[in-house]
Amino acid sequence: MKRVFWLIAGLNRRMMKILFALALIAYVACEYLGMSVNLSIERGEIKIEQIIDEVSLTHSSYPLNVFSQKYPPVKFLSEKDRKRILITGGAGFVGSHLTDKLMMDGHEVTVVDNFFTGRKRNVEHWIGHENFELINHDVVEPLYIEVDQIYHLASPASPPNYMYNPIKTIKTNTIGTLNMLGLAKRVGARLLLASTSEVYGDPEVHPQNEEYWGHVNPIGPRACYDEGKRVAETMCYAYMKQEGVEVRVARIFNTFGSRMHMNDGRVVSNFILQALQGEPLTVSKQSGTSTRGEPNVFVYLFSSDLVNGLVSLMNSNISSPVNLGNPEEHTILEFARLIKSLVVSRSQIQFLPEAQDDPQRRRPDIRKAKMMLGWEPVVPLEEGLNKTIQYFNRELEHQANNQYIPKPKAARMKKGRPRHN
Ligand SMILES: NC(=O)c1ccc[n+]([C@@H]2O[C@H](COP(=O)([O-])OP(=O)(O)OC[C@H]3O[C@@H](n4cnc5c(N)ncnc54)[C@H](O)[C@@H]3O)[C@@H](O)[C@H]2O)c1
Repeated sequence: MKRVFWLIAGLNRRMMKILFALALIAYVACEYLGMSVNLSIERGEIKIEQIIDEVSLTHSSYPLNVFSQKYPPVKFLSEKDRKRILITGGAGFVGSHLTDKLMMDGHEVTVVDNFFTGRKRNVEHWIGHENFELINHDVVEPLYIEVDQIYHLASPASPPNYMYNPIKTIKTNTIGTLNMLGLAKRVGARLLLASTSEVYGDPEVHPQNEEYWGHVNPIGPRACYDEGKRVAETMCYAYMKQEGVEVRVARIFNTFGSRMHMNDGRVVSNFILQALQGEPLTVSKQSGTSTRGEPNVFVYLFSSDLVNGLVSLMNSNISSPVNLGNPEEHTILEFARLIKSLVVSRSQIQFLPEAQDDPQRRRPDIRKAKMMLGWEPVVPLEEGLNKTIQYFNRELEHQANNQYIPKPKAARMKKGRPRHN
């Protein structure tokens, strides 16, 4: 104690000031670090996207040089915890975000995709990584591979894409799902089916809970997808009951985010693209007005929220279907105005005739996901939209540099002999 006293007494005023300043700097640094750690934990999902964006931007030009490739950071998992995971449709919008999450969590991921609507660019930042494999394969053909879990996402998801070749859409959802269930049975893997809110059709019950059987037109233009997914669910439960395959079924509601197709004809991509290009924001008559006496409302989930829901469902013990969606409702007009203001666009809003069988109102009842998975959406709509707008801006720059962005073709209407699908 005496020594400390002598030491303090020996310090002159200048040294005291320096010591005080150092202590202050140390305090501020600790506070800042603590805050940023907390922030990155809270906004973990957005953080994954930022890391991937940074890495992707460093090698956004083809051809890839795999030797100089830098990968996003990957956790180390012991042999016991590391799973071999197959993601069908893993080069698509949702599949590629799921790939990012599972890779960064330290698993071995195999992506299988026929690149109908998916793109190699969506997963290019993993090519060459020892935990990653990309296989160009159509799920309509059998696949033999050793895996522990299968996320079965392969299927076109937006109306122009699934209506382009309805027979192929049906085959992908039926034969493709049978093939994946057969694989799951052979290797003892658990399979999660990416089903859809479209199984509820144009619902008469609002909001839709998992008990609702739906209201689907079996011969309408959307039937190839809606009925394809319904039968895919049926197949999952047949394999579960008859063969003991472990299945999980996620009924996914409208989701948006980076890597969604620029031209997929859905509300979010349409509005962002139109606003960025200064074109009128097109709203179908039925959805803008409310001729049925109720407002036409839709809900939008950000991709990272969906990915977290899919992973929790896969690792849960819930084998019955679970809704994954955002219950926060918005009218289409509200949405158009919000996007206009975020993009700071002068585009007008223009009304178009209603499309056939367009569902008028959709809202998930997510009580089951909340109660049994502890899952609910956390990313605010504006934050998700801003990220998506940034992505679309970058894509438009690519386009301006003559880089290829696939556009959906018009639905096929054939005369004469049909082509083999
Ligand atoms: N995005 C949404 O809002 C939404 C909503 C409900 C359900 N879903 C479901 O989630 C899954 C993924 O949707 P997404 O939005 O990422 O669509 P997406 O079109 O971006 O991805 C689908 C992927 O599957 C691939 N694919 C299609 N047919 C295939 C085949 N026969 N063999 C192999 N690969 C094939 C495509 O090339 C693409 O990469 C789909 O099953 C979809 O039905 C999505």
